[in-house]
Amino acid sequence: MRVLGIETSCDETSAAVVERDNNSVRLRGLTIWSQDVHRIFGGVVPELASRAHLTAIAPVVEDALQQAGVTLAEIDGIAVTCGPGLMGALLVGVAWAKTVAWRERLPLIGVHHLEGHLFAPTLEMDDVTPPFTALLVSGGHTLVLDVPTWGEYQLLGQTRDDAAGEAFDKVGSLLGLEYPAGAAIEKLAATGNGKRFPFPRPLIKEGLDFSFSGLKTAVLRAVQKSDNLDRDRADIARGFQDAAIDVLVTKTIRAADEFDRSLIVIGGGVACNKALADAMVAAAPPARRRVAVASPRLNTDNAAMIAAAGSWRLMRGERDGNDLEARDALPLPGLIRSSEVSA
Ligand code: KG4
Ligand code: ZN
Repeated sequence: MRVLGIETSCDETSAAVVERDNNSVRLRGLTIWSQDVHRIFGGVVPELASRAHLTAIAPVVEDALQQAGVTLAEIDGIAVTCGPGLMGALLVGVAWAKTVAWRERLPLIGVHHLEGHLFAPTLEMDDVTPPFTALLVSGGHTLVLDVPTWGEYQLLGQTRDDAAGEAFDKVGSLLGLEYPAGAAIEKLAATGNGKRFPFPRPLIKEGLDFSFSGLKTAVLRAVQKSDNLDRDRADIARGFQDAAIDVLVTKTIRAADEFDRSLIVIGGGVACNKALADAMVAAAPPARRRVAVASPRLNTDNAAMIAAAGSWRLMRGERDGNDLEARDALPLPGLIRSSEVSA
């Protein structure tokens, strides 16, 4: 089955073609057009994002099809991110997908953006299959999930305030780095001394929820106190990254222990952070546990992961109609909260 994926939930206009054969899904073409218009504003401006998606979507799809060496006539289904995300941005992708699916008489499936992130490693590794523990860390979400089977997600922990990626971006702004700052912080941190700024590890001893706002405030104080930020910048970045990673890894391992899972999947933009993956591997010795992370290009927002998740749902016979709606807030399909499980 050959599926065209569309992703327009935030500031990346992306299209991809994947081919699925049962549990094996392979990438045939992927185009990601990252909108540059937001840079000067230090964050994504929703109205500008929608307009940029409108201009970009047709050529982006054309490019992905060309890479795959196919035309629309050779596509078997369309998968599109229908939420969560920026309403106006999502609408562009959903309207486009609905129109083309109707015109070409193709099956259509709406995909939850985070389910897409979960499927990203399956594009590179056939043996990434449930059961596993998942850490989803993006600009908008921080979740620990138990995944007993595809389509069933038990929510074990989430952030009480900022998302992990948001914390990286806010700390980046305190350090005078451009948005989004995750990759720049990782680069700076690699040259920094983590011992100079031993920042707090919020909630590390309690349960599986996260909180990053106290850590961000501690960084703010360190920046305010510094009499030479050029000297301290890398050390502060390192101190922050070490603290954030320590919390993310500790909670994920705790969840994997609790459910006795031998596979851990890390997904979302923050999964591009090599220090996070390395720390997870170090905490989960390979003899006992495997850590699966997709390549950076498949971890930040892209349509390949949407096509991977959508093709799995299409393969099961799921279909959406022309009434598919974009939703800015959308619960993960098949999500069970732990409170509901124990109740
Ligand atoms: O998943 P994603 O592309 O978009 C959302 O769905 O939010 O994630 C973007 C987030 C940004 O906050 C960005 O700073 C962060 O991922 N990020 C990183 C790294 N690369 C991207 N955070 C830490 N280290 C990185 N190397
Ligand atoms: Zn994302």
